[in-house]
Amino acid sequence: MQKNENTSLVTKTVLFAAISTIGFLTSCTTKPAIIEGTKANTVEKLAMGKTVFENSCAKCHDLPNPVDHSAQDWVGIMNSMAPKAKLNDAQHAIVYDYIVSVKK
Ligand code: HEC
Repeated sequence: MQKNENTSLVTKTVLFAAISTIGFLTSCTTKPAIIEGTKANTVEKLAMGKTVFENSCAKCHDLPNPVDHSAQDWVGIMNSMAPKAKLNDAQHAIVYDYIVSVKK
């Protein structure tokens, strides 16, 4: 019995060390991805902005067409519509970026 308990303690210690190592390695390998990934992040953010736009901005009226207003006008429109659509600041920003990206 005593021997088994010791074995299981060793197993637990080894497992804990392995999990810590994996966690450490993961935290190291994800950092360069964030630094390099600026362009991919932008593409992802625009895709997220599109999704939020399509899901949030057609509830009260038809989905607006980004080309109907200037980028400048969209600042004001988003300032009045983001609270109506209950967007947080991050969603407000990605929806605006998506709208402006469609116009180009
Ligand atoms: C809770 C309802 C509601 C939601 C959600 C909503 N809108 Fe509106 N929207 C309105 C109303 C009401 C008007 C017309 C009156 C006004 O301009 O405030 C309007 C008008 C507009 C107009 C026309 C503005 C103009 O000056 O011609 C645009 C563009 C627009 N919304 C975009 C959006 C976008 C983008 C979203 C998503 C972020 C959104 N709306 C979400 C209610 C809403």
